[in-house]
Amino acid sequence: IPVDPFDLVIFGGTGDLARRKILPGLYRRFLSGQMPEDARIIGAARSDHDDTEFRAMVGNAINEFVDRDKQEKATIAAFLERLSYIKVDARGEEGWKELAGKMRKGVVHAFYFSVGPSLFGDIAERLHAYGMADAESRIVVEKPFGHDLKTAQALNATLAKHFDEHQIYRIDHYLGKETVQNLMAVRFGNMLFEPLWNAQNVDHIQITVAETVGVGGRGGYYDKSGAMRDMVQNHMMQLLCLIAMEPPYAFEPDAVRDEKLKVIRALDPVDPDDIVRGQYCEDEDGPSYFDDVENPDSRTESFIALKTHISNWRWKGTPFYLRTGKRMRARTSEIAIVFKDPPHSIFGEQERQKANVLVIRLQPNEGINLRVTIKEPGPGGMRLVEVPLDMSFKEALGPEAEDIPDAYERLIMDVIRGNQTLFMRGDEVEAAWAWTDPLIDGWTDRGDRPKSYDPGSSGPEDALMLMHKDGRRWREVK
Ligand code: BG6
Repeated sequence: IPVDPFDLVIFGGTGDLARRKILPGLYRRFLSGQMPEDARIIGAARSDHDDTEFRAMVGNAINEFVDRDKQEKATIAAFLERLSYIKVDARGEEGWKELAGKMRKGVVHAFYFSVGPSLFGDIAERLHAYGMADAESRIVVEKPFGHDLKTAQALNATLAKHFDEHQIYRIDHYLGKETVQNLMAVRFGNMLFEPLWNAQNVDHIQITVAETVGVGGRGGYYDKSGAMRDMVQNHMMQLLCLIAMEPPYAFEPDAVRDEKLKVIRALDPVDPDDIVRGQYCEDEDGPSYFDDVENPDSRTESFIALKTHISNWRWKGTPFYLRTGKRMRARTSEIAIVFKDPPHSIFGEQERQKANVLVIRLQPNEGINLRVTIKEPGPGGMRLVEVPLDMSFKEALGPEAEDIPDAYERLIMDVIRGNQTLFMRGDEVEAAWAWTDPLIDGWTDRGDRPKSYDPGSSGPEDALMLMHKDGRRWREVK
């Protein structure tokens, strides 16, 4: 279904995110027919370019970042026709009047701030001053949304001067991932799971987001952030919220976000003994973390594992283990709900049934896997084995599931539709920082050093101990 006609201005239109994700994503939506004929995309940035140069740059980005079989010459040309460029000085007055003059009446106006947060205030102010911030216009802001609670509050206050909350779309691209949305469908679209979805029946929950890439190229940013700020405060927190939240009364922005906020507020502080941080060493495939960030004294983590609890009726007593890191064994993101063991084995002690595990695979090979116990086939008596009920979305749904839109594509279309359900509200972001800050302050004050780990491993040894000491184990990263 095509969205309404729009003018989308991308500040930072020549930057990395625009080239890799935003513009190729928009092209794919255009190809799918979802972008209306009279949509316009305006790249805005500091450098000197004209429309032709900008279009050439976007054409190259499409060649580089869109699958070959989706590169249709005529469609690319038609898409590029919709693009124009304008040189704008975020901190000065150059270009703003011209930009305001380009905005058409009667179409959706969206402004994507694909720039560092230090420019958010300047841009918001000028959109207002040049009459582009009307009650219907929308702004999209990227992470990192602040560096801590204080800076996030300041950013929220700055944006609030010129835009209402319903106009502010804070992107967490994990919420745009197909399987993350599926998490809600599985929970609230089936009767099977929800009655068991609580501390009485769930032993623990593991969330793993493992990456094989290092931080090379982004060292400057990353060394000031680390895995906690880069992944846990936002992406992993959002996953945790969607698993732990109460059923919202509707799949509507504030209904969902109210429930997520309650989860974040109910998170316990984390005991320092339940946090393991790591930094990858060098190997034949790449430099060490220190070399990647060019800081031999760095105490920033490229890996973190931690255990936390949610103090509410549903979850009291069920630990949530989170782990994420760079240069790990495999690129794999999954959520595992590990149910309790059956209370008693009628088949004798040696045939003790293992716990059911529901695994939601976010990437790659998106799907759902449920481990169940059955009888081993054959005449050998009542012997039990575990088998997976495995559903790969690709296998189950065929070609449609092959064509899962990238998270950014989905989210940008939601901005145009005016649907904030998959975007973070200001109070959510602040609550997440309020939980994160004391943990970071704690290890900074104690002067803790991250443990080193081998690239291609599943993180430092101590991370395994984090679960072993509770008599549990991580699922393998593979
Ligand atoms: C980004 C982080 O938000 O998410 C990166 O800044 C990380 O460090 C990336 O690599 C992971 O996203 P995805 O979609 O590749 O899992």
